[in-house]
Amino acid sequence: MQQDIDQLRRQAEDDLAAVTTEQMLEEFRIKYLARKGLIAVLFDRLKTVESSQKPLMGRLLNELRGTTNALFREKQESFQRRPSQATTLDLTLPGRTKFLGTKHPLTQTMDEIKAIFVSMGFGIADGPEIEDDYHNFEALNFPPDHPARDTQDTFFLSKKALLRTHTSPVQIRVMENNRPPVRVICPGKVFRNEAVSSRSLATFHQIEGLYVDKGVTFSDLKGTLISFIKQFYGSGLKYKFRPTFFPFTEPSADIYITCFICNGKGCKMCKHGGWLEILGCGMVDPNVFKFVGYDPEVYTGFAFGMGIERIAALRFGVDDIRLFYENDIRFLNQFMT
Ligand code: PHE
Repeated sequence: MQQDIDQLRRQAEDDLAAVTTEQMLEEFRIKYLARKGLIAVLFDRLKTVESSQKPLMGRLLNELRGTTNALFREKQESFQRRPSQATTLDLTLPGRTKFLGTKHPLTQTMDEIKAIFVSMGFGIADGPEIEDDYHNFEALNFPPDHPARDTQDTFFLSKKALLRTHTSPVQIRVMENNRPPVRVICPGKVFRNEAVSSRSLATFHQIEGLYVDKGVTFSDLKGTLISFIKQFYGSGLKYKFRPTFFPFTEPSADIYITCFICNGKGCKMCKHGGWLEILGCGMVDPNVFKFVGYDPEVYTGFAFGMGIERIAALRFGVDDIRLFYENDIRFLNQFMT
């Protein structure tokens, strides 16, 4: 009898060690611990044991039942602590995609324009978005009450403080703080009190540029800006300069390129004219130099400015610039780089 008990213990231990699923554990319980299990069968045999042996055998059987039960529970708990692999790791599931953010199309456009001018030796200057009347208008040769001020509908914060209507005041600040030669571009946000539509916004971005030194001519302006246009839009396109007026430049010009949507034939984008205006420019007015303390008899320079939303819209074929500000992921995903 004692041998049988020892053998059953070893057998139970081996069987339990081989158990890897809850199903197998249940089979183990039925085989050894259930009311008609192998341990119960041995208990039944106790009746046939000599009475002198009974207490010892009884004790050994009780021990066997106790330890088997304990081992069974231990295994059961280990299953509960660690649910079976099948439920935690499904190797057939698709992997988790990590979504990477990308640069906003306006940022991409600005970065590209900046890179071209930086490669030509321009630095990048920054300035305040809340400006004073002096830097936004007066020092740029907009006299008080001059009608040219009406071309840039202004958000006034007080009589003297306003939201800058262009980034040209940064150029004034750069000239106030540096002696020539000066060669900078000024990217940034600007604000105009305009009705919001598919073609205009009250907050938008500009990049303006300024080059001042001895002997800078209109040829330098043309050479620099044509080089920029060719690098940015492609070398094959046609361009033209058309005279215009800015208070801070004289002479002044707007630069047009052939509409790259219709190739100059005329379409909705170019309002059927075949040309797109992309840039304003001109030779810095001597009056502006006087405001910043540069001698206009010694120094000359050119300046230029462009609106980024418009350029990005033309470039990406977006027909409503408000889309750039809606942050609709379906829109933005089209500009992944
Ligand atoms: N400041 C002008 C504007 O906002 C752009 C410009 C800059 C034009 C420099 C000419 C020279 O419209």
